[in-house]
Amino acid sequence: MTNLDFIYKRKSIRKFKDQEVPKEDLLEIIKAATYAPSAKHQQNWHFDVITNKEKIEQIAKVVGDRHIEIANIADNEKDQTNMSKFLKYYTVFKNAPVLILVYVKPYKTVEYKILKDKLEYKEMYNMVVSSQPEVQTIGAAVENLLLAAANMGYGTCYMTGPMHSRDKIYEVIGHDGAKGELMALVPIGVPEDMEIPQPKRLPLEDVVTFID
Ligand SMILES: Cc1cc2nc3c(=O)[nH]c(=O)nc-3n(C[C@H](O)[C@H](O)[C@H](O)COP(=O)(O)O)c2cc1C
Repeated sequence: MTNLDFIYKRKSIRKFKDQEVPKEDLLEIIKAATYAPSAKHQQNWHFDVITNKEKIEQIAKVVGDRHIEIANIADNEKDQTNMSKFLKYYTVFKNAPVLILVYVKPYKTVEYKILKDKLEYKEMYNMVVSSQPEVQTIGAAVENLLLAAANMGYGTCYMTGPMHSRDKIYEVIGHDGAKGELMALVPIGVPEDMEIPQPKRLPLEDVVTFID
């Protein structure tokens, strides 16, 4: 046992008990998300909290429909089958008591401004933007959110699969763009089963290089 147990015990939970999550717990979890680092401390995130079951089901419906639509435009049966078979991983939030929508807001940095319209520095500009600091900021916030929730006994699942239905999700919730661009969904709830196996990790020697 180490004091990093709060990290090792988190796992993606895809089935939830039909049990409400108190608002103060949700606020605590989101507060933890906002203590993540953010590029240039711009805190360019926003969180929608949906507890309305009907709305969550409506979102699951549009995600499921879009999923099938994509499967049906596949050029071959293998891709179509593969796409269809993963549907359940795109709608795991459908029975969660809470769904958090995580948005990224525009990120402003002076090097973007300097390089943006200078054709001769296009490569340099591409290097700068490809690290996507604003998106990394959202990842840091979501990870804090997941760890806080796990530490408080809740299950979560970081989800970007449903982003293929971003436009339809906006229609369901009436989003007009002011909160930024939707980047991820995170269902939260009491896990139906916390004893599910945790996917194995690659050995450290495969992912770490010490450079002298
Ligand atoms: C950026 C990101 C997107 C993910 N999107 C989905 C998703 O759409 N659906 C899903 O079921 N799991 C999703 N996951 C969860 C991963 O499948 C999961 O983290 C991975 O299998 C490792 O399992 P663990 O979280 O239990 O350690 C996502 C994880 C990350 C980091």
